[in-house]
Amino acid sequence: MKGVVLAGGTGTRLYPLTRLINKHLLPVGKYPMILYGIERLRQAEITDILMVIGKQSAGLYTDFLGSGKEFGVNLTYRIQEEAGGIAEALELARGFVAEGERFVVLLGDNLFMDDLKPFADSFVRQPEGTAKVLLKQVPDARRYGVPVFDGKKQGRIAKIEEKPAVPKSSYCVTGIYMYDTAVFDIISQIHPSERGELEITDVNNMYAAEGRLEYDILEKWWSDAGTFESLHEAGRRMKGVIP
Ligand code: G1P
Repeated sequence: MKGVVLAGGTGTRLYPLTRLINKHLLPVGKYPMILYGIERLRQAEITDILMVIGKQSAGLYTDFLGSGKEFGVNLTYRIQEEAGGIAEALELARGFVAEGERFVVLLGDNLFMDDLKPFADSFVRQPEGTAKVLLKQVPDARRYGVPVFDGKKQGRIAKIEEKPAVPKSSYCVTGIYMYDTAVFDIISQIHPSERGELEITDVNNMYAAEGRLEYDILEKWWSDAGTFESLHEAGRRMKGVIP
């Protein structure tokens, strides 16, 4: 299995810090944020990893991470020219994964304590053309993509609502996704949203509409570190996770 880490994006909620440096390179504990996702993949024995990065700070990524050798992984880089949404960034992984191969996608600002291996292993056993998202119960789901569970099919999601005013469940769809290469055909069928981006939720909803979107639930601490508050909490929680 391969891994893809999406680390483009502008990080407007962390402005003015992100005026100087890309969000995913901001310090969390002793390390730049980006290293935690890479470490989670490595622990799950996923060592062939594509980094999708923005133009801003590209040199800092390669300065710090290099080939990945020091961190026990093998890194490939692709540049997202402009922030055009998560699904657009994911499109850049086309060709990195072989036809029919399965892979894990992480949003670089998602930090978590669960081990990815059991989730990745169970995804490998699922039928082809199925996608999986990892969920987490959160106090305020309105900030996230929120699953509507399929009442008839156990373990499946009927639909995801992106940042709903009235969430239909207390779970959020985290930025941890699993696909096979069929996802690239789906990305080519979706259109930019009102904010002009190719949305990952639209991709996942195409799977959901066909009853092919599975989920698992993270049990331990999870956060996206996209706001000052969550960035500080992440710093406290992740201390010591990487020696
Ligand atoms: C994105 C996704 C959202 C998901 C979140 C997790 O939102 O669109 O569905 O819940 O990541 O971090 P964003 O943070 O880009 O607004």
